[in-house]
Amino acid sequence: MHNTHPQFIVLLGPPGAGKGTQAERLSGALAIPTISTGEMLRQEGRSGSLLGAQIQTLLDAGHLVSDELIQKVVAQRLAQPDCRQGCILDGFPRTATQARFLDQLLAKMGFGAPIVFDLAIAPEELVARLSLRRQCPLCDRTFQVLPGAIETCPHDGASLVPRPDDAPETIRRRLRIYADHTSEIVRFYQNRGYHRINASQPADHVTSKVLGILGNAPAGTNGLKRPVPASQHLSALSPVAH
Ligand code: AP5
Repeated sequence: MHNTHPQFIVLLGPPGAGKGTQAERLSGALAIPTISTGEMLRQEGRSGSLLGAQIQTLLDAGHLVSDELIQKVVAQRLAQPDCRQGCILDGFPRTATQARFLDQLLAKMGFGAPIVFDLAIAPEELVARLSLRRQCPLCDRTFQVLPGAIETCPHDGASLVPRPDDAPETIRRRLRIYADHTSEIVRFYQNRGYHRINASQPADHVTSKVLGILGNAPAGTNGLKRPVPASQHLSALSPVAH
């Protein structure tokens, strides 16, 4: 699918909903880059800088970094030429303050509001998914592993490791923090480009659903064909719509 107008796509959803998985697939299908704030922060965490060390402490504990810091990072990234045709925002915005900032930033750049996909899934499924997630320390790719299977990266042979913030207690904290911000952020986006997607479906189905909605969006807008009824704007952790 080729872009005829810039598309700024926001992927909302709790930890483990599949934002990163879908971002990668959509990026390939739409030929626009992904901005993953979690990944950018993890890279800074590994950089050895003082700021990186401070960020890593927050990430490992499952806390959010400040709005001010992440907004600066995103503004710098969105200003890069490869974002002129749009991009996929994986993990940003995460607070209503960040959502307002993004609207203002896109407007300053001459773009409309983003189209938003809220990947909704039950918490127990998330915990199961994240406890089976492993990451390659060399290439950063993530994998679902089968219990008892050999856990090495098929690309570079490195031993796969759990993400530090995938410890059960940290997952619970991340889910709580996500839930604290969800209703406010959904209220912000409701009635304008907001789509709730059932993220417990296989990844292929989720991608098709999103691409189908994007394909139906009228040209020249960032997305919404029809308003979403207020009754669908429930917590992202409750049963789902599309
Ligand atoms: P981030 O990296 O964004 O973490 P997250 O939001 O907790 O999300 P995850 O990466 O855990 O999950 P995901 O939804 O991407 O799912 P995935 O595709 O990997 O952020 C990390 C931290 O950075 C935050 O905690 C915070 O500290 C900080 N941060 C980031 N952004 C910030 C911001 N804007 N403001 C402040 N702080 C910020 O999938 C999970 C697993 O499930 C994978 O193994 C995958 O293979 C599998 N899977 C995916 N889809 C499916 C499917 N449909 N069916 C079966 N399995 C699937």
